[in-house]
Amino acid sequence: MNAITPASAERLVRVPLGERAYDIMIGPGLIARAGREIAARMKGRRAAIITDENVAPLYLDALTASLEAAGIEASSLVLPAGEKTKSFEHLITVCDAVLTARVERNDAVIALGGGVIGDLSGFAAGIVRRGVRFVQVPTSLLAQVDSSVGGKTGINTHHGKNLVGVFHQPDLVLADSDVLNTLSEREFRAGYAEVAKYGLIDKPDFFAWLEANWRQVFSGGAARIEAIAASCQAKSDVVVADERENGPRALLNLGHTFGHALEAATAYDSRRLVHGEGVAIGMVLAHEFSARLNLASPDDARRVEAHLKAVGLPTRMRDIPGELPPAETLMDAIAQDKKVKSGKLTFILTHGIGQSFVADDVPSSEVLSFLKEKHP
Ligand SMILES: NC(=O)c1ccc[n+]([C@@H]2O[C@H](COP(=O)([O-])OP(=O)(O)OC[C@H]3O[C@@H](n4cnc5c(N)ncnc54)[C@H](O)[C@@H]3O)[C@@H](O)[C@H]2O)c1
Ligand SMILES: [Zn+2]
Repeated sequence: MNAITPASAERLVRVPLGERAYDIMIGPGLIARAGREIAARMKGRRAAIITDENVAPLYLDALTASLEAAGIEASSLVLPAGEKTKSFEHLITVCDAVLTARVERNDAVIALGGGVIGDLSGFAAGIVRRGVRFVQVPTSLLAQVDSSVGGKTGINTHHGKNLVGVFHQPDLVLADSDVLNTLSEREFRAGYAEVAKYGLIDKPDFFAWLEANWRQVFSGGAARIEAIAASCQAKSDVVVADERENGPRALLNLGHTFGHALEAATAYDSRRLVHGEGVAIGMVLAHEFSARLNLASPDDARRVEAHLKAVGLPTRMRDIPGELPPAETLMDAIAQDKKVKSGKLTFILTHGIGQSFVADDVPSSEVLSFLKEKHP
């Protein structure tokens, strides 16, 4: 991670999943080239673009023009922006639009947007005609480094988030680094929490590189492309080792058990907390909790907090605007999280920066007293 590649450099990460293998291309100007890249990999000549109302005015015309120039007939569906769009209702709308566009198995559904659009359209691509081709054009940092890679798709129900879905790997991911320039600072920072997460899981050198180079990652150019590529490579490695999350893929949940509890405690109100912010606070808590269990040094928790704070992320429960419910209620949310097996809690804990591990025997009493201490 020491050498920074030239400003115009494009990066390619291959996800080697046998017959489901695919490329992730990362770099500037990829939307303009999307048609050519897709046409080169796909027999069909039809595509249904699914996007949201924020992204459509910015990039839909450019993507459509690029597809048509490559001989791909493109239809489009523009959905409301936001987490609520990951619903059964909108799934029906997407499936219907894909069928109306006469997309067949060798044609593609193209997700142009953040993780919400990616998860919803990937699900539709996985079930329409029992699976059609799927291309991700992720436009948020979170989608470029996390949700567009790995094939998890799905929607939310009133029982909880992401409870209905399928595994459906994309055929191609085109992460255009330029589109991040229109993303709000807050959404960029939230995606950055997931970038830092890869360092904290098992790449201490990458974390140190981020500590030194985060300003360049935020301002764009080569360091940004490098950080996205390193993140995609890290996610790809985990996914290839455990495509269907039976084991090591759980490490990707570092900071997420606490983070999800905080998201639930704020009723998924994005004005108070967005996912990556919950993950940032959750990663600090996971390091502090590990220190409390004498697994790691408190200095590591301080280092994690210092970095996340430097980039402008919240790191403490008290950074969340408004009242939080008591520790007991947060504990209930943790217990309801899907990573609970037969009374014992499964947590991603750590021995230090870049030394995370899955612990499946964490006593809930320890978690509760820790939470009471942090949120009296
Ligand atoms: N499938 C997976 O493996 C996986 C992993 C992590 C997260 N997720 C899911 O991803 C979702 C969150 O994704 P997200 O953070 O991208 O949210 P999002 O899709 O809601 O996007 C965030 C906001 O940014 C806007 N936006 C996106 N790109 C933009 C751009 N280039 N310019 C201006 N505005 C832009 C969107 O319209 C939206 O308002 C959650 O539903 C989460 O469950 C899935
Ligand atoms: Zn996450």
